[in-house]
Amino acid sequence: MLRAPVAPRPRKRSRPVEAGVPKCAEAKFEDVRIFLVERKMGSSRRSFLTQLARSKGFTVEDVLSDAVTHVVSEDIRASSLWTWLKSRAPPNLSTIRVLNIGWFTDSMREGRPVAVETRHLIQDVSPEVSPPTPVTTVSQYACQRRTTTENRNKVFTDAFEVLVEKYEFSDMEGPSLAFRRAASVLKSLPWEVRSLQATQHLPCLGEHTKAVMEDILQHGRSFEVERILSDEKYQTLKLLTSVFGVGPKTAEKWQRRGLRSLSDVLAEPGIQLNRMQQSGFLHYGDISRAVSRAEARALGSIIDEAAHAITPDAVLALTGGFRRGKEFGHDVDFIVTTPQLGKEGNLLSDVIDVLKRQGILLFCDHQASTFDMSKLPSHRFEAMDHFAKCFLILRLEGRHVDGGLHSDEGDSRGWRAVRVDLVSPPMDRYAFALLGWTGSRQFERDLRRFARLERGMLLDNHALFDKTKKEFLAATTERDIFDHLGLEYMEPWQRNA
Ligand code: UTP
Ligand code: MN
Repeated sequence: MLRAPVAPRPRKRSRPVEAGVPKCAEAKFEDVRIFLVERKMGSSRRSFLTQLARSKGFTVEDVLSDAVTHVVSEDIRASSLWTWLKSRAPPNLSTIRVLNIGWFTDSMREGRPVAVETRHLIQDVSPEVSPPTPVTTVSQYACQRRTTTENRNKVFTDAFEVLVEKYEFSDMEGPSLAFRRAASVLKSLPWEVRSLQATQHLPCLGEHTKAVMEDILQHGRSFEVERILSDEKYQTLKLLTSVFGVGPKTAEKWQRRGLRSLSDVLAEPGIQLNRMQQSGFLHYGDISRAVSRAEARALGSIIDEAAHAITPDAVLALTGGFRRGKEFGHDVDFIVTTPQLGKEGNLLSDVIDVLKRQGILLFCDHQASTFDMSKLPSHRFEAMDHFAKCFLILRLEGRHVDGGLHSDEGDSRGWRAVRVDLVSPPMDRYAFALLGWTGSRQFERDLRRFARLERGMLLDNHALFDKTKKEFLAATTERDIFDHLGLEYMEPWQRNA
């Protein structure tokens, strides 16, 4: 039987509860409103803990209202606690965090609300329930959910991803984001969803997502998703956007002109392809095929050698999906920089020159840095950061890859084209760039959303800004950034949200 971890309980005090507890301090943490459950705790301990928390600037509510964000209980029997909570039915029950006393004592010790960790959750200990599911509080933020590459709910998340795409093609951001969030929550679960009932305490699952899941649970497939997959317009947009350099807008324009296939596009006289799209078509077969980890490693050596030929103190880091432990990716992402501040400006173009001289540069879109610390913080998130970067297509020789190329059988060329992204932040921005480029996209989105909504901070690939203190927070490692945000550290392989 699984037992919930119980935090050490302070010794019972015999003295009057008021003694020794300082008066209320000013409320410091606006986004945290605690409710202490009296059952099991008893009224005198409850009022002692209430005063203790208030003296440290925490807001403790006397009644379980809509305002409450964190419910703390010493009763760790999940089922009875949950029944009791439901009978009180605060309207926002699904978003309230229901925690054991460990979270409370940790927060008192730290003098601030600590990030909710798995050991703070009240576990269901009734033996007939398997797997043991936390009562609630899978966080609504991906940056508080450890998500590996192992996805036990692929049947659902694959379906959701089709819907994400469909709404993206129709420029409907809201529903597209809703399905992204739902997919991300299911990816984080260490168990397989077998009934809708099992999802009732999960965040980010709305009516529409549940309807899709219900279909899959009942019939093994979603009729809505099948309709989309067989829709001609969807198929065309999906095909056209799979070309490097072709976004949804261009694809839509071509689709409206009646173009349905890649050869339709190439045969259409009136169409002017830009340089990126030309390379996209030219190397379509290669770059639409996944890149293997061994190929990523081989490219790492090539870039590393090129960068070190320019400056012996070059710094190279693998980022993107491969840093998160993925076996395959659509490209390979690297940070290339130097500890000499300001020198990173030219490093990238020098590296590109080396690759060109080696005869392996098939395409290069080099964007010079537009980074300017004095223009920060930026209040709206831009898809691209301001660091110097380049989007490349490189020629990778099979003999440089351990175990050979990940290519079609019967392909006798001995080489393949691969998409590679290089970014070159100044060294004092390194931790932010590394965190931003490691992804996943959903993890990054939720880090920024968490920073803004829960901490009053602005985070992007360049910096972290505290809006209350009106200052930038320095960081030399990713851990520093998690610390500033009051988040438990997540290893890169746990960021596959
Ligand atoms: P990718 O699109 O390469 O995704 O961007 P990925 O996770 O590596 O997945 P695959 O395997 O290639 O398909 C990597 C990360 O870099 C960030 C993205 O937000 C993503 O988190 N990125 C990319 C930026 O921050 N800025 C950019 O200009 C481009
Ligand atoms: Mn990538």
